[in-house]
Order: sequence, then structure tokens, then C-alpha cells
Amino acid sequence: MLRNLIVAIDGPVGSGKSTLARRVAELLGYLYIDTGAMYRSVALKALRRGISLEAQEHLTSLAAETRIDLRAQDGTQQVFLDGEDVTAAIRTPEVAQAASKVAVVPGVRRVLVAEQRRAGERGGVVMEGRDIGSVVFPDAQLKIFLTASPEIRAERRWHEHQQKGDGIDLTRTLEEIHERDRRDRERSASPLVRAHDAIVVDSTAMEPEEVARLVLLLVNERGG
Ligand code: DC
Repeated sequence: MLRNLIVAIDGPVGSGKSTLARRVAELLGYLYIDTGAMYRSVALKALRRGISLEAQEHLTSLAAETRIDLRAQDGTQQVFLDGEDVTAAIRTPEVAQAASKVAVVPGVRRVLVAEQRRAGERGGVVMEGRDIGSVVFPDAQLKIFLTASPEIRAERRWHEHQQKGDGIDLTRTLEEIHERDRRDRERSASPLVRAHDAIVVDSTAMEPEEVARLVLLLVNERGG
């Protein structure tokens, strides 16, 4: 009898988490939950309202009064912020930077982590983020910590921007990656760390499909 596992995928920006989590969820028929999209949604709302990204209490109450729905559609995920489709709007470099600032606020994390636990508690989920294996689901049956070299991660991000027609250059993308890495690792509230029982996978020299197959083997090993 197959079990509905919780698969936690953490790692730095551009390591391939989203591609991996989406593919593994598809292969297993599990729910895919992108927790970064939740931090991005709160950041977008704050930017639109002109709320300072340093105003911790204000940001916490903003998060508490925000409804974020992640809906699976045709193999992709759509993100709704208070009923509005913000799937594309949250993917700009400006929102990415703002999200990493919003994510340092302990109150915001408390609100979003509670929602993430509710969404995943029944299992059968692949959840990706920075603190899924360490904080959100410390008892997850499978934890993957996905990494890749900063240069490869910058290249991947840059390709994504190119495809969307954003004229951002590679050097600037690499700088942004370093900046976000530092902020994600150094914040005191749930920094990006590898959970002690997470399996480290370095995707620098691997094709996305190879990584997905490897994770699938690990899921099968755990009875999922
Ligand atoms: O994965 P992403 O680039 O969409 O995440 C956006 C920001 O949110 C990123 O700076 C890290 C932060 N984040 C976090 O702190 N914890 C999570 N579980 C997910 C994302």
C-alpha cells in the first residue's frame, strides 16, 4: 500500500527546486506547493500599497489579512492574491528582492508557515522553499536539499528572464543571486539551512529529468 508522503525540497535560488518539485508532483500525482510564491505575493501586496519593507508589524498584519490560493492547472501552478491572478506579476526581479526582505520578518513567516502546514498536513504533497524540511515539516518522510554552483544558478535565472523578454544581464543576475543567498542564509528567522536529515543533491551537472528520477527512487524507497 503506497503512502501519501510529504516531500520537502529546499535550496537556494536557481537550484532547480521548482522544476524538480513540479515534475516529482506530476509523476506521483501529488500536490505541488511553491511556498516562495506565498512570500512573493505578500511582497507584491506590500509594494502596491507602498508599505515599507522594514515595517515588521505592518507586514505581519498584512500577511494575516491576505488570502493566497495556489491552484494547479494543466501542469502549471497559478497564484491568486485575494482573488486576483498574480502568477506573472510575482515573477519580476523587483518582487523577488522584496520577497527576500519580507521573508526575514518573523511574524510574516509565522502566518505563512501555519498556512503551509494546513495545506500539507494530509500528505501527498511536494512542498518547496527554504525551510520546509527544517521548520514547516521537520518530520517529512523525504527531505531534499538541492544545490548548484552560483554561476549555473545565475545562468538558469538569466535564461528565464530572457524568455520573458527582460533585458537583464548575466553579471547583474549573478550579483542578485549572491545578494539573495546572503539574505536567505543570514536572517535570524528560519535561515536557509540544510536539515540534518536532508539528502543533498547537487544539480550543477545534472539534467532536470535525472534529478526527478533520483528523487522518485528515494520516494519509492520510503514506500510512497
Ligand atoms: O523561491 P523564491 O525565489 O520564489 O522565493 C522568494 C523569496 O522568499 C526568497 O528570497 C526566499 C523566500 N522564501 C523563504 O524565505 N522561505 C520559503 N519557504 C520560501 C521562500
